[in-house]
Amino acid sequence: MKKYTIIVLALLIISGCQGRYYVVEESTKISNQQTKKDDKEMNTHHNLDDQKTSRDKVSTNEKQSNTKKPEQIKQPNIEISQNPSSSVKESPIVVKKEPSKSIKKPVEKPVENKDSIQVVAQPNSIPVVVNKSLSLPENFVPQNLMYLNVPFIFSGNSEKRMMRKEAAIELERLFAGAKKDGVTLLGVSAYRSYRTQKALFERYVAIDGYEKARTYSAVPGTSEHQTGLAIDVTGGNGKCPAEDCFAGTIEAAWLEQNAAKYGFIIRYPKGKDMITGYKYEPWHLRYVGKDVAVDVSTKGITLEEYFNTLPVSK
Ligand code: DAL
Ligand code: ZN
Repeated sequence: MKKYTIIVLALLIISGCQGRYYVVEESTKISNQQTKKDDKEMNTHHNLDDQKTSRDKVSTNEKQSNTKKPEQIKQPNIEISQNPSSSVKESPIVVKKEPSKSIKKPVEKPVENKDSIQVVAQPNSIPVVVNKSLSLPENFVPQNLMYLNVPFIFSGNSEKRMMRKEAAIELERLFAGAKKDGVTLLGVSAYRSYRTQKALFERYVAIDGYEKARTYSAVPGTSEHQTGLAIDVTGGNGKCPAEDCFAGTIEAAWLEQNAAKYGFIIRYPKGKDMITGYKYEPWHLRYVGKDVAVDVSTKGITLEEYFNTLPVSK
């Protein structure tokens, strides 16, 4: 009986250990199962997320599949057109280049073709540059022409006694200023219409031929006299009117020294004929306004240099 009891007890102990083991194993299983369940749930969330993500992924993939093709050709295309920031960076460069090109063209033209003449856009502007390359518009007549109240070398009425009001006022002051300094000046020729310049130029052509005439007389439409802002003057004795012998006279010297104070420049200075297109004309005064005149004469430059227009080729 004892023996039987011991066996039974032994069996019970053994089975108890297994039971505990079993319990441990079950709890492990359970906890494993729970973990797996949790994992599963989490996976479910993940899966939902995944589904969401995968939906997104699908759409992303769709997008990607849409964008993939360009991406694949992106490298050769360098994506510049697809990248807004790139195109923004690019555009100022393009914008910069285009105006400089369009600015260059008209400036370069006269160099390439010395016969090309451009029409000035603002013929009424006081410091307008008119020369062999820059003409006045056809039939241009300046506003506010008025008769000058100064002595001329000729008598009688003539448009050549007129200048634009702004210039006329200052020219009269200049003559008065010269008189104060003991220097007498006479007018020779101020405003000349297109028609008058044409008649004059044709007369010179008849005498000297076209090419020579162009070296001292303007082709009609390109004369500063037509602006109403220019005048030829000479000394009180009336000698050397618009002639080389005027150079070196006291009147010419006075004008060199004083014309700018009244807004006038000696328009065709000595040694600048390659820039202005004309030989030295100490008698040809051009009204440009005081600021420009003082600047031009102080610097000893031409109006072409002052406004950076191209030199006029002969
Ligand atoms: N003598 C100047 C250039 C003119 O004819 O306008
Ligand atoms: Zn002149």
